[in-house]
Amino acid sequence: MLRTTTKQEVREQVKAWKAEGLSIGLVPTMGYLHEGHGSLIARARKENDRVIVSDFVNPIQFGPKEDLATYPRDFEADCKLCEELGADLIFHPEPEEMYAENFHSYVGVNVLSENLCGKSRPIHFNGVCTVVTKLFMLSQADRAYFGQKDAQQLAIVRRMARDLDYNIEIVGCPIIREEDGLAKSSRNTYLSAEERKAAVVLHRALTLGEQLVRSGEKDAAKVVAAITKEIEAEPLARIDYVELVDWNELQPQSVVPDQVLVAVAVYIGKTRLIDNFIVE
Ligand code: PAF
Repeated sequence: MLRTTTKQEVREQVKAWKAEGLSIGLVPTMGYLHEGHGSLIARARKENDRVIVSDFVNPIQFGPKEDLATYPRDFEADCKLCEELGADLIFHPEPEEMYAENFHSYVGVNVLSENLCGKSRPIHFNGVCTVVTKLFMLSQADRAYFGQKDAQQLAIVRRMARDLDYNIEIVGCPIIREEDGLAKSSRNTYLSAEERKAAVVLHRALTLGEQLVRSGEKDAAKVVAAITKEIEAEPLARIDYVELVDWNELQPQSVVPDQVLVAVAVYIGKTRLIDNFIVE
């Protein structure tokens, strides 16, 4: 597996692969890889001739009070997992390589970025769309792989690729969970033992909500109230949002639509965790 920190080396490798007519799958990550990322890399491996993993903690998607400085990193462990899963190239640039001095060009998707995480993280999705656009252009990938845990991100990247005619297939992959249901996340590492136990409340509450939706409940407020009540019963949890939106424009609904995303963001202690379910 080739390890590189430079855009130039990625471009050269991609050019050589394209000259041979090989297809390329891209897995964009911020590193500290876990089984969730592993599932994306494994799927990319199956569906493409070559697999590129990007491993870059993207500073422009973090707000000033967020965890950029403390975001967990372990590049050697990331390389090991990528090699085991058969990735061909890992791209691990410094911020200066990605963002030249006087960088002023951003990509964003309106409407879909307004709700859910967009409310409490106003610059986040423009940062994501910008870095993802750069990675798409560099990798010239045929397919790019994103986890459903970041459902809003997945919807936004899909819409961006459609609206702006990026010639790339966006592949959404299922949430990978711990045995007790907690969604895998690099941020789980921030949790103390007590918080780790409490964090299961996200999945427990969403499971309740999903049962209600699947059993035909049409009153969105009832679904949101049931999830909220379950989370509020956990003393270490503080809700950022519990939202029910349509799985198209990501707008709040009063009647549960046929294609629905129910998503939560909850602080467990100081750690903000997200989780969701989609019924289509
Ligand atoms: O989901 C992530 O890890 C990041 O938002 C992404 C897509 C790698 C962009 O930095």
